[in-house]
Amino acid sequence: MTTPTDHPADGAPPPEPVKLWFCPNDDLPPDLAALLARHWLDEHERRTAERFLFERDRRQYLVAHALVRRVLALESGVPEAEAVIWRSARGRPFLRKPVDGLPRGSRELDFNLSHAHGYNVLGLVRRHRIGVDVERLDRGRQGFDAIVRTFADAERYWIAQAPPGRPRDRRVLRLWTLKEAYSKARGLGLVLPFDSFAFELAEPSGVLGFRPPPGDVAHRWRFLELEPVPEVLVAAAVRADTAGPPVFQFHHGFPWSRGAPRLCPLPEPARPLA
Ligand SMILES: CC(C)(COP(=O)(O)OP(=O)(O)OC[C@H]1O[C@@H](n2cnc3c(N)ncnc32)[C@H](O)[C@@H]1OP(=O)(O)O)[C@@H](O)C(=O)NCCC(=O)NCCS
Repeated sequence: MTTPTDHPADGAPPPEPVKLWFCPNDDLPPDLAALLARHWLDEHERRTAERFLFERDRRQYLVAHALVRRVLALESGVPEAEAVIWRSARGRPFLRKPVDGLPRGSRELDFNLSHAHGYNVLGLVRRHRIGVDVERLDRGRQGFDAIVRTFADAERYWIAQAPPGRPRDRRVLRLWTLKEAYSKARGLGLVLPFDSFAFELAEPSGVLGFRPPPGDVAHRWRFLELEPVPEVLVAAAVRADTAGPPVFQFHHGFPWSRGAPRLCPLPEPARPLA
């Protein structure tokens, strides 16, 4: 049996685990978040934080960005305040690799952040791409009809089969988080039409099939759904590692230390939808 530490026969490096950090805002008291932000955040992040009208939104941003810099420091070896983060034309952040490589291993490192309604999720992989999204089921139904109108026909039909209320809302947000995660892994955000690709989902969780947008193939992707605390849905999309079945590590809380993550198998690559 292949384990995450086995070396594949072709001599390729073993698959790296996909890593996810789930951090509620409450795990970092406001004073501490502000203090870390003062020491760690760069000019762009500080200016962005200053622009929020509501303290609640500023706090969310500070916790999210302290989390990003802390995790990048743990994983790359580049100290929190020294990590240089650049953004693509569509706003996707990347860690700039120092010319002589990252202190903690020189492999490419990709990360993606989502923050909403008091929760933050950060996904990290090496050599591949990741996208993540977090949503709260109890966030209210505002905008739901508009969201559903952006989905593919078969997805809208599947949503309509569920009884109104929580069961139906859950279907909407499961699809939404998966679509955002995929689109964010591609760096496209909301620019990618959400009816140009589709998911078929199992109940209560799991992706049965995936129809990618033109130009992509389903089996490159693995999709993960989690509910780390009740009513909070997290989705991750990972470009599949062909070297073997990797695991994912799940970390809960602000990563003051490396801690002991929960290890789980990563779902199989997506099955193409007809
Ligand atoms: C990416 C996007 C879908 C985020 O949506 P959201 O659900 O509101 O927010 P989330 O909390 O899930 O994710 C936000 C984080 O995603 C990351 N992000 C931003 N743009 C991204 C992109 N194109 N791809 C992947 N991740 C992106 C950032 O880390 C951002 O947090 P930050 O701004 O605090 O650093 C949305 O901002 C978007 O569509 N952006 C693209 C806009 C664009 O194309 N602009 C063109 C040039 S102006």
